[in-house]
Amino acid sequence: MKILIAYTSKNGTVRTCVDRLCTSLNGLDVTAADLNMSTPNVADYDMVILGGAVHFGKWMPAMRDFIKDQYDALMQTKLGLFLCSGLAHEQEYYIEKLFSKELRDHAFQTLYFGGSLRKDGLPFFDKLVVRHLRSIIIESEIDDGEYTPSMPGILPENIEKMGTYARKELFREKE
Ligand SMILES: Cc1cc2nc3c(=O)[nH]c(=O)nc-3n(C[C@H](O)[C@H](O)[C@H](O)COP(=O)(O)O)c2cc1C
Repeated sequence: MKILIAYTSKNGTVRTCVDRLCTSLNGLDVTAADLNMSTPNVADYDMVILGGAVHFGKWMPAMRDFIKDQYDALMQTKLGLFLCSGLAHEQEYYIEKLFSKELRDHAFQTLYFGGSLRKDGLPFFDKLVVRHLRSIIIESEIDDGEYTPSMPGILPENIEKMGTYARKELFREKE
C-alpha cells in the first residue's frame, strides 16, 4: 500500500506540515514529493494526499499543473486534500476556490493545516507580503468589533486527523 504526499511549499511551512504528516503515518510506505522538484505519477500509488500553501490567492504553478495533468488519476485514487494559508478566516473560500467540488466530493478528507505569517528567514519581497497579510487580519478583527489579533500557526490536530483518516481509509476494505 503506497501513499504519495504531493505538495508545494515556498518558504517551508507546508514542508513542516508534511514532515508531521509523515510522522503520523509512521510504519506505512510513504513518499513525500515536493512538486517543485519532481513530478510523481499518481497511478503508481494507492493513496494520494495533496496540498500546498496559497500564494496570491492561487496555487504555485507546479501544483496547478499537477492537478490539471493528473486530474483523472486523482479522481480514481483514494484522496486526501489539505491547504495552508496565512489568512485563516479565508480557509473555506480558498478550499472551494482551489480544489474543484468534484475533487472535494471524491476526497476522504479535506483539511486546513494552518499557516505561518512569520517573517524571519523570508526573502525581502515575501516579508512585505506577509506584513500586508498581518495587517489584513488586524483590520478584519477591528472591523468585527473586537481587537484580538490571532496570527496563524500550524494546526497539529488537523495534521494528526488527516493521518488517522488516511490509515482508516487505506485499510477500510480489509476490515
Ligand atoms: C508571496 C506570498 C503570498 C501569499 N499570499 C497569500 C494569500 O493570497 N492568502 C493567504 O491567506 N496567505 C498568503 N500567503 C501566506 C502563506 O500562504 C503562508 O505564509 C504559508 O504558511 C506559506 O507556506 P510555505 O512556507 O510552505 O510557502 C502568502 C505568503 C507569501 C510569502
